[in-house]
Amino acid sequence: MVNLAVSLGKLSLKNPVILASGTCGYGREISPYLDLNQMGAITVKGLSYHPFPGNPPPRLREVYAGVLNSIGLENKGVHRFIQEDLPFLSSLDTRLLVNIWGHTEDEFTRVAQELDKVERVDAVEINVSCPNMERGRAVFCSDLEMLKSIVGKVRHVTQKPLIVKLGPEVGEWEKTLDILESEGADILSLTNSFPALFIDVEKEDFFFKRKFAGLSGPAIKPLALKMVYEVVNYTSLPVIGMGGIVSAYDALEFLLVGAKAVALGVANLLDPGLALSVLEGIEKYLQDREIEDLEDLIGKVK
Ligand SMILES: Cc1cc2nc3c(=O)[nH]c(=O)nc-3n(C[C@H](O)[C@H](O)[C@H](O)COP(=O)(O)O)c2cc1C
Repeated sequence: MVNLAVSLGKLSLKNPVILASGTCGYGREISPYLDLNQMGAITVKGLSYHPFPGNPPPRLREVYAGVLNSIGLENKGVHRFIQEDLPFLSSLDTRLLVNIWGHTEDEFTRVAQELDKVERVDAVEINVSCPNMERGRAVFCSDLEMLKSIVGKVRHVTQKPLIVKLGPEVGEWEKTLDILESEGADILSLTNSFPALFIDVEKEDFFFKRKFAGLSGPAIKPLALKMVYEVVNYTSLPVIGMGGIVSAYDALEFLLVGAKAVALGVANLLDPGLALSVLEGIEKYLQDREIEDLEDLIGKVK
């Protein structure tokens, strides 16, 4: 028997495999194809206070080894989520992480406040790779002052474990990590998708109406892994690693450099059963090497 349980400070998971936000809906959508009870955690689609329509189509474009997305954070809003999805999610034996975002600081804190009242929610993950409408659409995590303010304010209104989800927009990593520790983040997750561009050559125009889109999938894995490695070596906060994981060996790379858990995004769109094969592959790897506890493997590569 192998012990796959991991502890991320205040959040314990029965195993390290998490479904990443935006790639498994609100749980029910993926549930016919994957037994969610087997997952360490599921992260639901990023919620704002009011329902949000997102971007006009086209919204997805497959590229070599990846996917560009311009969904634009479409979601049903926190109230409909609580009403329509929590009953189903409450029947599951897995941790429930709720990803949130806002156009403004006030919107972030209002969503966090609503979720703080919901016992079933195990942690709140704030997506700080989204634009701050009060500051000319600057991405929250790209600016130390904005990041400090948003993390401090959300921390103030929630007792739940607070996960801060970072993206490649972070400029000064060491200062950013110092701020996250001092403002009370409990866990870090990285990375979000990479801002990228696709040109429609036939039309001689941008493919996406909003010009840039987020690149995810295997194409970003080595970049994401380097980010996780560096963050783990700098901070004492537990880290959830993600970016391009589609196999057990991909996941093991992140665990070996010190991620306490891993999340799968695009993998769920390619094949909703992949998360389970990744989990089984990690277990088999440990069994083959007679490692009894996954925690003994985490961070072995310094
Ligand atoms: C279609 C799609 C929707 C996404 N929606 C969100 C979201 O709502 N909130 C968020 O923080 N990340 C969102 N992401 C980012 C993923 O959660 C993940 O961080 C990123 O895709 C990198 O992991 P991957 O390469 O395994 O997909 C989305 C990604 C995709 C592909």
